[in-house]
Amino acid sequence: MNSKDFIKLEHRYGAHNYHPLEVVLARGKGVWLWDVEGKKYMDFLSAYSAVNQGHGHPKILKALTEQAKVLTLTSRAFYNNVLGLYEKFVTSYFGYDKVLPMNTGVEGGETAVKLARKWAYTVKGIPNNKAKIIFAAGNFWGRTLAAISSSTDPECKDGFGPYMPGYVVIPFNNLKALEKALQDPNVAAFMVEPIQGEAGVVVPNEGYLRQAYEMCRAKNVLLICDEVQTGLGRTGKMLASDHEKVKPDILILGKALSGGVLPVSAVLTRDEVMLSIKPGQHGSTFGGNPLACRVAIAALEVIKEEKLPQNADRMGKIFRKEMQRLSDEYPVINKVRGKGLLNAMVIKPTKSGKTAWEVCVELKKQGLLAKPTHGDIIRFAPPLVINEEQIHWAVDKIGKVIKNFR
Ligand SMILES: Cc1ncc(COP(=O)(O)O)c(C=O)c1O
Repeated sequence: MNSKDFIKLEHRYGAHNYHPLEVVLARGKGVWLWDVEGKKYMDFLSAYSAVNQGHGHPKILKALTEQAKVLTLTSRAFYNNVLGLYEKFVTSYFGYDKVLPMNTGVEGGETAVKLARKWAYTVKGIPNNKAKIIFAAGNFWGRTLAAISSSTDPECKDGFGPYMPGYVVIPFNNLKALEKALQDPNVAAFMVEPIQGEAGVVVPNEGYLRQAYEMCRAKNVLLICDEVQTGLGRTGKMLASDHEKVKPDILILGKALSGGVLPVSAVLTRDEVMLSIKPGQHGSTFGGNPLACRVAIAALEVIKEEKLPQNADRMGKIFRKEMQRLSDEYPVINKVRGKGLLNAMVIKPTKSGKTAWEVCVELKKQGLLAKPTHGDIIRFAPPLVINEEQIHWAVDKIGKVIKNFR
């Protein structure tokens, strides 16, 4: 079977809920991917930042295969001999009292919202069913009804109502709006991405998160940081909130927590918040399974051992400098922005009406895989194991494509 056959199969038998670029991948190693015909590509998406440690990382695969042979799943009906070790490891790694393990990022977000509501009723003293959660416009935290209820993107949201009540949406990067929303005594939490990923790598003003944190604290409102995409080295620090020396009341992690091997997410917080949820009030069959726990420990060890945040910081600086040079040369690039290795290029509408999608199609022909978001933005997020030579290779390919777009 060739690429066309595989695409046809997906189209015929799968739901049409994605619009993938036409490449059929069969193998990956480090920053590289190969399609079924054997053509090699550099991965500049990293499965939306899930593969920070690079494809097929030997240490993570060793943890996966060794544990898979022994025990994969017990459910939380019983104890297992890995979960406690992982819980101790991950809480000391990030400096929190407790962790609640889940699987996908969206479940992490859902868990954080449930924790905030329970805490609001049992600790803060908000009247039952009156708690409000503030979100920032442009947020993205997944596809469940709770998540899309906070969305401002009609593509995600329209046609799926009615939506979750108790949400307040304010503009991102706007402290005045936050101050106003915090006047309401029924606010339990403000949930925010330190850098909005899916919105197109929108970086707020310096000091935004720090001030937001202090404003929340003054009102006894929990700051929930969704670091599912920005966390685990991606922005050049372990957490994007580290850039502003903020320790969120609730931290949500996912994606690279398993190095892209299986779905693993986690919600970390202090006892006062975590212990507001009692047995039977939240959980998941697969959350905290021994396989996921072993993989997550290995994935987190790799991030520190290989100094991936530091590498993301250095490589990101080189990448943006080189991209700025391209931007000065080719006016079709409107803007280059980002932090660490979470970056985006915004393109201007071209005379021929060409779009970010067409840029990505051309990039693919050059052997570089990236994905557009919102029509005019292309996110560039390679695995954090990328080296300087590979960064220059990628910029060279981007330059070759961009010079043909006017
Ligand atoms: C910031 C953020 N939060 C949550 C999610 C949801 O993660 P998942 O797709 O694993 O449910 C995403 C996914 O892209 C994300 O970018």
